[in-house]
Amino acid sequence: MRVLFVCLGNICRSPTAEGVFRRLLEERGLDDRVQVDSCGIGDWHLGKAPDDRARQAAERRGIDISALRARQLADTDFHRFDYLLAMDHDNLAVLRSRAPQDVVGHLGLFLGFAGLDGRAVPDPYYGGDQGFEEVLDLVEIASRGLLDDILGRLEAAS
Ligand code: 4NP
Repeated sequence: MRVLFVCLGNICRSPTAEGVFRRLLEERGLDDRVQVDSCGIGDWHLGKAPDDRARQAAERRGIDISALRARQLADTDFHRFDYLLAMDHDNLAVLRSRAPQDVVGHLGLFLGFAGLDGRAVPDPYYGGDQGFEEVLDLVEIASRGLLDDILGRLEAAS
């Protein structure tokens, strides 16, 4: 199973989701069965490490995202991932507009897996530290829901 988290810059929300979800997989011993990546829609921060505020907020919860580097969404991603999960409606609109007709992966809002249908992970880039804590809170809840969904699919396939 392969999961791709998508936001605008790939320096705040999606690397946070990648770090949180990867740790959850490690805790459950599933990191060899599920691969995780993240990317951005825009190209402003290509090759950059996560925003310091995102890195520090994750660090406070024991998650190290400092080695991640920003990359941009590629057309090949649509055939590589089983889940392409957008942080907000703009990201999702771009995913939908660029997806090839034969895409098989699930395209949706990440917070759909938190039982928060239609809700976005708010962009924390222009706000204060509290925004980054809120991102983590939401991402932690959605990560548990996503893991349940993946476990269901893995069980159905076995
Ligand atoms: P992200 O946050 O999409 O969560 O990585 C942003 C990062 C950079 C910008 C906007 C949002 N920016 O405008 O540069």
